[in-house]
This record gives sequence, C-alpha cells and structure tokens, in this order.
Amino acid sequence: MFYLKYRPKTIAELDNSRVRDQIKKILESKNLPHAYLFVGQKGTGKTSTARIFAKAVNCFKRSSIEPCNHCANCLAIASSSFTDVIEMDAASNRGIEEVKNLIRETSFLPMSGKYRVFIIDEAHMITTDGFNALLKTLEEPPETVIFILATTNLEKLPKTIVSRCVKVNFGKGLQKDIISMLKRITIQEKLNYQNDFYSLIAKHSDYSFRDAAKILEEVSMQKIKSVEKLEVFLGIRGKSNLLEIIEAKNAKKTYEWVEEFSQNGGNFKNLIEDILEELRIQLLIKKGVKIEDEKTADLTFSEISRLIKLLMEAYQLLRSTPIESLPLEIALTEFYNVSPLVIPNEARDLN
Ligand SMILES: Nc1ncnc2c1ncn2[C@@H]1O[C@H](COP(=O)(O)OP(=O)(O)O)[C@@H](O)[C@H]1O
Ligand SMILES: [Mg+2]
Ligand SMILES: [Zn+2]
Repeated sequence: MFYLKYRPKTIAELDNSRVRDQIKKILESKNLPHAYLFVGQKGTGKTSTARIFAKAVNCFKRSSIEPCNHCANCLAIASSSFTDVIEMDAASNRGIEEVKNLIRETSFLPMSGKYRVFIIDEAHMITTDGFNALLKTLEEPPETVIFILATTNLEKLPKTIVSRCVKVNFGKGLQKDIISMLKRITIQEKLNYQNDFYSLIAKHSDYSFRDAAKILEEVSMQKIKSVEKLEVFLGIRGKSNLLEIIEAKNAKKTYEWVEEFSQNGGNFKNLIEDILEELRIQLLIKKGVKIEDEKTADLTFSEISRLIKLLMEAYQLLRSTPIESLPLEIALTEFYNVSPLVIPNEARDLN
C-alpha cells in the first residue's frame, strides 16, 4: 500500500509543511516539553509524526534532530516492538482502569531508550474519570516520560487537559503539501504525470494525505495516465456535460449518459458532489449573486432547488444502494416526472 510504504520516516519527509517546521523547533529546543496534543483531521500525519518524534528522542546515533532509522532503537520503534513506546487507542481503552494502568507504566524507567513515549490516539474518547486520573501525571510527568495525545476533535477534550499540553495543529492537508507527497511517491515509483494530474488528485483527497496516496495507488494500478481518464475515474468527467443534457430535458440521452458513465467505472459520489456544487452556484446566480466565469444554466429557480433536493436524497442513498447508478437514476426520473419534458421558454419563465 502506497500510504504505508511511503509513510514519512523522517521530519524532512513530513509533507505537512506547517507541522514539519513546528516539530523541528520543538526538537531543537533545550527544554523538551513532556506533553503534546496533536490536533487535526484524519490522514494528516498525527500517528506518523508521533512515531518519528518517538524515534528522534530515542535514537542512538542522533547527529541532528532527525532519527537515523538504522539503529536498534529506530528499527524497534518502526516495527512496533520497542518497549519504551506505548501506543494506546482511546477509542477502545477509554475508562479509568486503562488510564490507571497507563499511569502505572509511567513510573518505570526506560529500558533501552532515553524516554518512554506514550502515544494516545483518539484521545477525546477518554472518559471524564479517565481524564481526571490523567491530569496530575500530565501536569508533572516523570523526567523520562513524554505524552503525545492525538485527536480529531479538539472541542471534546477538557480545557484542563488542553492547557497542559503543547498543541501542534495538523489542520487539513494543504493542496500544495499533498502534491509534494504525491510527487515524492511517483518519483520513487518511477511514474510520471502532468502537473494537472497531481492537482486533480489533491483536490479530490478530502484534504487527507492518506486518501490522496490511496487514489494515486488505484490510479496507477488501473494504468490511468491522462487527465481525461483521471476525470472519468474520479467521476467528474462531464459534470457540465450531464447538466447540459438535463437542461435540455432529454431523458433518453440522460439515461444513456449515466449508463456510459457507469460502464466507464465513474464514481457516483464525486459526480453528485460536483453537480451539487454547480447547482448551488446556479442558485446563487439566480438570486443575483455575481460569480465570475460562470454561465447561467437554462433552468428555473424552482427546478434548480428541486434538483438539489433530489440529488441530496440520492447522495444519502449511495451508502445503501446495491447498484451505484440507481440513486441518481431515480432522482432524475423524479425530476423529469414533474418537469414537463419539453416546455416553451415563456411558460418556464413564469415558474
Ligand atoms: N505529512 C505527511 N506527509 C506525507 N505523507 C503523509 C503525511 N501525513 C500523512 N501521510 C500519509 O497518510 C498516511 C496516514 O497518516 P497518519 O499519520 O496515520 O495520519 P493520522 O494519524 O493523522 O490519521 C501515512 O501513512 C502517509 O502515507
Ligand atoms: Mg492516526
Ligand atoms: Zn536511530
């Protein structure tokens, strides 16, 4: 898997630029803080960074702030067999007993490293009792202990916990950083794509490095090389195309288009998202909002809003449908059932 194979192993490889600089500064500082809070959306590098951090502070051959990735400690951490790095998933270990066990662990001296590093993932899942038990240890941890709490939901953490940690904000993956990651992977995989190709993947990755790496892997497996093919794959091919057919109220052509899209392996989730985005813009235009470079669709206000509602329902149904194209086909059928297939322009303007 690309996203595991190319998981960053050094600080320099962290493509999340804001985080990279912050982590560098922390590791260079004379007094290393003992508690950290890594906050950010999924797939932005919290776990990867926590492991790099654990290596950096425990590396035998540390010449700079970077871990060497070759010494016994670095190798043990990489293979999750290092007794001084303890990872706990708070989603499944959230109660007071688990936290107490963890606190007991902090009283032991490191076996082979300099620090015992406790990485608590999904930290917001810890119970109130658990947090209370953790508070004191977090405030005055033993000299040889480092805590790294990772969370996607900062607002669910008690303020008392937050205020005792150095916060590192991972945010969402920036487009330019995700592109750097994709290029780092393709250079090593000896793949070569146009710049637009990378931007398009980054745009469809939900701001997640992990998702972007997954798309790239699928695309390379499918031997997709051109931007046009990538558009089909991502389901954004001809979104305007489909909208134009809908505007013309050509039912037969509409179903043919959807069938072809389906045959080509198009992604219906992305397709519906893109059409909704376009319809939203059309709604704004109808309300007099000026939007550059947008042409006005040949649909009335009520048609646009009805189409939006139907497509939102179709979007929900995507999760449970046995046939991917069906929700969209039903939505369009309902749309045409109410909207007369051919109506004169004058009549339509009265809508
Ligand atoms: N900053 C980054 N630079 C490069 N790749 C990244 C970065 N952050 C995440 N990734 C990719 O995403 C995958 C998941 O990252 P992970 O650290 O598990 O994220 P999180 O813990 O925030 O969900 C990694 O294996 C890696 O492929
Ligand atoms: Mg993680
Ligand atoms: Zn090392």
